Amino acid sequence: MARSQDFLPLHSRSGNLSLSHYARLLTSRRNLVKAVAAIAFITIFMFLTRSSPKDSNSVLPDPAISPDEITNPPIVKPTWSKDSLGTDILNRQSIFTPQMFTPDQLKHNGLKPVTAVLLGWKRFESLKFIIQYLTRYPFIKEIIIWNNNVETRLNIMDFDLDVSKSMHVEIKVFNSYENLHDTAKYTTCSMATYDYCYFQDDDWLNLYMDSMYTNFMRYPDLIHSNTMPIIHLEHKRWQFTNTEINMHSGFTWLGCGSFAPRWKIQNFLAQLGSAGLGKDRLRLADMYFSIWTNQYPWQLSNPLSPLDQNEGWSDSVDQWSIVYQNVYDAASRLYSALEANAVLTRNDYFMRDEEEPKFEDRDVRAPCHNDKCLFITSMEPFPNPDIVQFDNVNITHVKDQEAAFNALEFPSNDFWDKHAYHKAVDGDSTTCWNTYKAPMVGDNVGIRLVRKLKANTFTITLSKESKFLEQALAISAIGVANEEWIPCQSQLTHSNHNNQLTFNFNCPSTEAGIKGIRASFTKDLSEPIDICGFLLDDFAV
Ligand SMILES: *[C@@H]1O[C@H](CO)[C@@H](O)[C@H](O)[C@H]1NC(C)=O
Repeated sequence: MARSQDFLPLHSRSGNLSLSHYARLLTSRRNLVKAVAAIAFITIFMFLTRSSPKDSNSVLPDPAISPDEITNPPIVKPTWSKDSLGTDILNRQSIFTPQMFTPDQLKHNGLKPVTAVLLGWKRFESLKFIIQYLTRYPFIKEIIIWNNNVETRLNIMDFDLDVSKSMHVEIKVFNSYENLHDTAKYTTCSMATYDYCYFQDDDWLNLYMDSMYTNFMRYPDLIHSNTMPIIHLEHKRWQFTNTEINMHSGFTWLGCGSFAPRWKIQNFLAQLGSAGLGKDRLRLADMYFSIWTNQYPWQLSNPLSPLDQNEGWSDSVDQWSIVYQNVYDAASRLYSALEANAVLTRNDYFMRDEEEPKFEDRDVRAPCHNDKCLFITSMEPFPNPDIVQFDNVNITHVKDQEAAFNALEFPSNDFWDKHAYHKAVDGDSTTCWNTYKAPMVGDNVGIRLVRKLKANTFTITLSKESKFLEQALAISAIGVANEEWIPCQSQLTHSNHNNQLTFNFNCPSTEAGIKGIRASFTKDLSEPIDICGFLLDDFAV
């Protein structure tokens, strides 16, 4: 992909060019240049919103401010209001209840309480909305707000919380006397009461709290993050693997909603301490964290919902090159440490073992639009990350790494724009995910449910006439007892739509309900196919 600096609207910010504007541009995709500019803009925007607009590239220390100098001005006039969100968003509720997260219940039900870490900067209205929103999700038992803005002091009272609805969550506010930038996320999480942190910035809303939490609960030691499809595609090239030295790493932003274990954050602070990064780099800690876990993050792909997109901007520095430089620096330092020592050392704190599930065993790809299920498939359109081997001698720039992936069968932006994972579960059967490669025996596609369901029929909607698939699929399900896929007996039934396949199914030991269902290919197909939606009895996505 050509990604010239020329495309970046870095120096021409007009007040009404919001990120949602660019997000819409991405989905409408009128021409490539605009799309490229939009992708770059979004990536950079996401970077910028994680650091001070004025001096993120400055190596000068922040001026010291004493507590007395803070005059506590009134909160800045809101430029954004939650009224701009749809009623579906405003009314979303968790399927989890506060009772499930009492200490007594937690001893038995295996659920994990989480501390949400939020940074305050200048978008007070959206921060307030996010705090109110998070209180609807009872697994968030603690919210810590670290206010990086030295010109504004925040108080819990400012957030207008409904006491009756937020009693189950403890909220703490820290007003910093210095802008700690990204680093504050990690120092704040290290203080959390609970073993897991949830991160979110104030420029996007994560509409998929329950479904993300459900997948996080399966593998709580991995980073589980959330991003828009085009950034997901980008990050698939920002994976750094060297099988000889146990390097199996990838980049993700945390700010659009991510779960991570607190021990990894504490380990990261130890890594930062021993790496001796300069202050300017410490502020950009977000570029290092996921890469230094030396694990591929588990990233879900979906269209994000924008909140206030103001006040995160800088036009004074070349942000795109800073992202590239620091992502490369992170990967290069990881490579050097792993190459120098085959085992974990006190001086580097980099994990050597690859955590389960390995990339080839991951199934969950995107949350369903209603946050009640997750789209699963074994068919990733992207090349396996270990096909591109990284070292810091032959590869001297992230662009080299991207070029190596692009030289493989890498999906185009245009393909992904039309056929990203979430199109199979977006509630619209006219938009479709495409397998990209022809499905082979054993490949599968289906959904995992947030809450168990009893059902007897499973329908797959395709984009065209589906007769050729009638003898090519086998159904299996997971029950509530364990994670095992159980083969089901199934029979095709007549459907009124010739692009739908409906199975009557019956799976042993799933009387209590199923947690997931999938169709596996029993024949090699000759071409990729479109999957446009699923129906489980009357549960439709
Ligand atoms: C660089 O590439 C060459 C040629 O493929 C290879 O022999 C060499 O080992 C690579 N260098 C490193 C440090 O991996």
